[in-house]
Amino acid sequence: MSGKLWQGRLDGNVDTVTDKLNRSIAFDQRLYPHDIRASIAHAEMLGKQGIISVMEAREIVSGLSAILEEIASGQLTIDPLAEDIHTFVELELTRRIGDTGKKLHTGRSRNDQVATDLRLYLESEIQAIDTLLAGLQSVLQDKAQAHANTIMPGYTHLQRAQPVTFGLHLMAYHAMLQRDRDRLRDCARRMMVCPLGAGALAGSSFPLDRADVARQLGFSGVMANTLDAVSDRDHVIEFLGAASIVMMHLSRFCEEVVLWCSQEFNFVTLRDAYTTGSSMMPQKKNPDLAELIRGKSGRVFGSLMAVLTLMKSLPLAYNKDMQEDKEGLFDAIDTLKLCLEALTPMVATMTPKVEKMAVSVKEGYLNATELANYLVKKGLPFRDAYLLTGQAVQLAVQQGLSLEELPLVAYQQLSPQFQEDLYRALEYNAPAVAIR
Ligand code: ARG
Repeated sequence: MSGKLWQGRLDGNVDTVTDKLNRSIAFDQRLYPHDIRASIAHAEMLGKQGIISVMEAREIVSGLSAILEEIASGQLTIDPLAEDIHTFVELELTRRIGDTGKKLHTGRSRNDQVATDLRLYLESEIQAIDTLLAGLQSVLQDKAQAHANTIMPGYTHLQRAQPVTFGLHLMAYHAMLQRDRDRLRDCARRMMVCPLGAGALAGSSFPLDRADVARQLGFSGVMANTLDAVSDRDHVIEFLGAASIVMMHLSRFCEEVVLWCSQEFNFVTLRDAYTTGSSMMPQKKNPDLAELIRGKSGRVFGSLMAVLTLMKSLPLAYNKDMQEDKEGLFDAIDTLKLCLEALTPMVATMTPKVEKMAVSVKEGYLNATELANYLVKKGLPFRDAYLLTGQAVQLAVQQGLSLEELPLVAYQQLSPQFQEDLYRALEYNAPAVAIR
């Protein structure tokens, strides 16, 4: 046996380089638990429907269960020369139980098989990613709670704008991650319909019970259109889209951490464990972890583009191009999980420099908006209040003073509406509430 499942009209003697190009075992072997689980459900259904005998189904199921256990425990190594994971499992089964093993593929194609495997795999990864996102959220929330009253400068255009709290700032990322979790859950919900039974493209003339297989595997239903079932990779694209958005959020956060660690901002300290030094400059403490997460967003965005490009011109139904959906997807999953695992403890141990933040709030007239609001509360239209406050800022800049240092006489030359109580409006409070 040449180790090929498709020696029908072909002699199976494939050119060595073609064989190498064709082989996906190096990366699709990670699908093995899902591949075997789906095969078990398929075999049980074949037995229940009388397509194979109940005894044969039992033999297949116990053979597959043993293979699953042995791969998981490391007793059985996956042959790196097998064409793909589906080939490896089926040939291994037949090697063990003989001709009955050859009945497993009745009413099935690798096209509906791989489509099913990938959905099962992706669903379990989405669950794992959701847990990691929730972990990061809880660390952000704890830190935000601890710093619900820590005033820091808020920025627009990277210019100091209004006071905010460190808690509010962190909770913005909490909110982004909540949307990310919703998006991933939504992707999983749409994805969890079962392609198995679609065969190569046209279904099967055997009385398969597709609904039963779908139920056994935890799908919510069956994909009705068989051509769509084997050629749809929307879920891969949706997942990569959602994963790219997560990475974009992590990257924005990391960019802020990098800025905050700079001497120019000097807002936070990272624990040494999450930084590295320089081989030449002994004084350096670099936020490499944050930089790397920022950098790694690019490869996840790249995978999204790769799969979109891969799919955009494919006629129905399955085309071998689609084997290329996996490496980028797997890399995106590994990258995202690694980044979340690394970032969470870094955030948990990050300490804001409360004093430095408070001092920075007082430089740059961040209380000007509150001064304008003060005049509005006295009855001025906002636009007039805005202009008067602008003039006060101009005066203060000219005299090298802050708004709270500018004497009342100076204010009153601008408008009699300015009274002694204006100084209370100039105290630095963040107007928004941070924690929900
Ligand atoms: N390794 C293949 C893939 O990942 C499995 C499906 C192969 N189907 C086929 N008709 N050659 O897409």
